[in-house]
Amino acid sequence: KNIALVAGGYSGEYVISVQSAVTIEKNLDSSKYAVYKIIITRDSWSYTAADGQVYEIDKNDFSLLIAGTKVQFDAVFIGIHGTPGEDGRLQGYFEMLGIPFTSCGMVTSAITFNKSYCNKIVAALDVVNVSKSAHIFRDQAFDTAGILQQLRLPVFVKPAEGGSSIGMSKVKTAEELPAAIEKAFQEDNQVLIEEFIKGRELTIGLYRTNNTLTVLPITEVVSSKEFFDYEAKYVPGVSNEITPAPVADEVTRLVQETATALYNKLNCKGIVRIDFIYEEATGKLFFLEANTMPGQSENSLVPQQVRAAGNTLEAFYGALLEECLR
Ligand code: DAL
Ligand code: MG
Repeated sequence: KNIALVAGGYSGEYVISVQSAVTIEKNLDSSKYAVYKIIITRDSWSYTAADGQVYEIDKNDFSLLIAGTKVQFDAVFIGIHGTPGEDGRLQGYFEMLGIPFTSCGMVTSAITFNKSYCNKIVAALDVVNVSKSAHIFRDQAFDTAGILQQLRLPVFVKPAEGGSSIGMSKVKTAEELPAAIEKAFQEDNQVLIEEFIKGRELTIGLYRTNNTLTVLPITEVVSSKEFFDYEAKYVPGVSNEITPAPVADEVTRLVQETATALYNKLNCKGIVRIDFIYEEATGKLFFLEANTMPGQSENSLVPQQVRAAGNTLEAFYGALLEECLR
C-alpha cells in the first residue's frame, strides 16, 4: 500500500513534527507499506526521493508524478502538530478527496485545537472539571483589570491555538499579565487566560481499533521548570516523566474513565492524548487539553506509554494505519 506520511506544517511545532515523522517512518513496516514522506510548508508540499530528486504534490488529488507515473495514496499518516495538520484543515481536505487518514476528523480536530472553545465544550459535557478562564481577541478591546477580578492568580496565558507550550507563560502577579498576553498574541490572534490548578499533571493516550478502545498507561509529568514548557517537554532530563504514573488505583480509574468519556463524546479517532491536573487536596480532576496530534518524537509521551504497555511502536503505528484503511 502507498502511504503518505505528512510532516512539517506552518507553526513553531514544525521541528517537533519532523522528529515525530522520523519515529513514525522508522516504525512503519516497510514490507507492507511504501511510505512517502511529504513535507508540507506554506511554500511547498514536497517529497524528496532517495536520490535527492524533489517532487511536488498535485494538490488537485494529492498525487505525485514520479518518472511519468502517477503515485496515489491509499492512506495518509498525518504527523503535523499545529496548523494545518492538527486543526482540521488537512482533515477537511482529505475528507473532500476521500483519502483515509489516521487522525480525528475535521470537526473534532478543529474544536479541540482551539483551547478556549474546547474548554467550553468539555465543560458542557459534564464529565470533568474545567478551570475558570477568559478568552480574548487581538482585534477586540479587553480589560486586564476586569480579567483579574474574575480570575484568581496565578494564571496561565496561552495562545488559544498553539502547542508545545510555545508563547505560553505562567503569571503570578498582575504586573506580569500584559507582557504575557503580548507574548501569546505573537503566536495567535486569540488568547486563553486560565486559572492555575495546583496538582499533579497526568496525561493519557487512547486509540480505537476494531471498535475496541485501547487506553494506554498514564504518565505523570514532574517538571523541574515552573511548568512543563517547551524545554521541559523536549530536552531529556529537564522533566521527569513517569509511566505508569505512581498514583492510587482510584485516581488511575478516574483518569481512564474520564479520558474514555471525552474520547467518545468528542468523537475522536486515532491516537489522542488528553492532559489533566489532579488536584489532590479536593480529589478533583481538571481537564487541561486534548491533543489530537500528540508528539511521536523519541522523547514524546505517547511512545513512552506504548512501550510501557508492552507494545511495539511498529505494531502501534501499523494498527493506526489499518484502522483508517478498514
Ligand atoms: N503538541 C505536542 C506535539 C504534543 O501534544 O505532544
Ligand atoms: Mg498540546
